[in-house]
Amino acid sequence: MSEATLAAPWWKRGVIYQIYPRSFADSNGDGIGDLAGIAARLDHVASLGVDAIWLSPIFPSPMADFGYDVADYTGVEPMFGDLAAFDRLLAAVHARGLRLLLDFVPNHSSTEHPWFVESRSSRDNPKRDWYIWRDPAPGGGLPNNWISDMGGPAWELDPVTGQYYLHTFLKEQADLNWRNPAVAQAMTDVMRFWLDRGVDGFRIDVLWHIVKAEGLPDNPANPDWREGLAEKLRVLQHHSTDQPEAHAFTRQFRQLADSYGDTALVGEIFLPRDRLMRWYGTEAEPGVHLPFNFELIENPWDRDTLAALIAGYDAAIPDHGWPNWVIGSHDAARIAARIGERQARVAAMLLLTLRGTPTLYQGDEIGIGTVDIPPHRIRDPQDLRQPGMGLGRDRSRTPMAWDASSNAGFSTVEPWLPLHPDWRTRNVAAQEEDPASMLRLYRRLLAARRASPALSLGRMTLREAAPDILAYERQHGDERLLVVLNLGSEPREVTLPGATRPGRIIVATGTRDMFDGTIDADEAYVVELLA
Ligand code: NOJ
Repeated sequence: MSEATLAAPWWKRGVIYQIYPRSFADSNGDGIGDLAGIAARLDHVASLGVDAIWLSPIFPSPMADFGYDVADYTGVEPMFGDLAAFDRLLAAVHARGLRLLLDFVPNHSSTEHPWFVESRSSRDNPKRDWYIWRDPAPGGGLPNNWISDMGGPAWELDPVTGQYYLHTFLKEQADLNWRNPAVAQAMTDVMRFWLDRGVDGFRIDVLWHIVKAEGLPDNPANPDWREGLAEKLRVLQHHSTDQPEAHAFTRQFRQLADSYGDTALVGEIFLPRDRLMRWYGTEAEPGVHLPFNFELIENPWDRDTLAALIAGYDAAIPDHGWPNWVIGSHDAARIAARIGERQARVAAMLLLTLRGTPTLYQGDEIGIGTVDIPPHRIRDPQDLRQPGMGLGRDRSRTPMAWDASSNAGFSTVEPWLPLHPDWRTRNVAAQEEDPASMLRLYRRLLAARRASPALSLGRMTLREAAPDILAYERQHGDERLLVVLNLGSEPREVTLPGATRPGRIIVATGTRDMFDGTIDADEAYVVELLA
């Protein structure tokens, strides 16, 4: 790594790899992944060439929302291991020079969390105000019109105490009351607990949701809602999300993280671009290091759309902020399912050559594509609650395929979700052997990025190009590179910026090693520009 690269904090120059623990590797033969399984497969992660792992929740959980319903913020779910297994994993991660981010879930706890069990026990319990309880509306019924992100009202009546509690997600996930200083204190202690154990930061779940407007007014109706859209979109979440107090808490999280040194906070925030930018905070009072940027997931895959969103997003980043990019997660459809395997290679090239920290989702590095989940195997509560609407998230949570042995080397028994249909050939071992595989492409890309300050840290300038061709330059010091991506199905010509001539091909989706002024359909490459 060059000096320029080393001088930058790891979360700027590095790449984050998301592990979904249930589906990475099962060490104890219950069909569900676990921490020892992850530890046993760390060589894969290290050999990819990423810098940090974000682990989706590993805490004790009834698994109503597969770990995003936390019943103990400072423990480890027995299905995944225990604190000792966690410490071993963390040590093994650090020994490989990698970092570990945990998933911090501040908006809601499981209704089985002891805090909620106490809170619901009576109206005058000292923990009553740790959650958001309201009387029924005058004359009976829901306290307001808020809708759960999983469909249906965001309120559940507790028959014992006669009040409703708020749940932005499942009724098994009660929203914590961040306006109660005791909650803010307890949750800050949770962060401290894990930072003291040595974690390198957090991905913060639904950060923009944590504080609600005083008085919980009705949300305005969404004039654009129509039949067929998810129910949560019936209203605009004006009063239930993105409150100024949530920004204030974010600044405190940042101060705490910064007091531990070289840490990073990644915020899960779905908001229009201008409002997303506010989560960077200000230079004097920074917010999260990286408010997740989901624009590549949310927009159509075509040159003009991508060029416009890349330019717009990059220009919107405040001076003290740093961009980031995501193309997959445990919530979104698999990139290869969305745009096909050939374009998924182009997407890999885009993700790892844009200016900003990429987050790579497990399984995308072997190009897992469409997985049809048979109805009797659907596990995702969002899908079960709103069937047939294409909201299912199981399709991106299917197990990793390690080799062609039974159950793809993921487990000794049938996994909790089905494997992708072509797992016998689409697995890590098979792709190791194939120089043309997606895995080998990801490795080349990650190595190129690591070796090149222009790719990891350099300036980015979009360039005019033929139809379907997305082209941008990355530059750092004397190093100038042109990234060219063909998003179409026809070969095209490529013109270099004025007064430059082509040097080496640094990395390519295919086998091209010389620039000849053309690009094939579905091809992408990075070419050195010489003066
Ligand atoms: C976002 C998580 O990524 C998703 O999986 C979960 O269902 C919700 N937050 C609620 O925690």
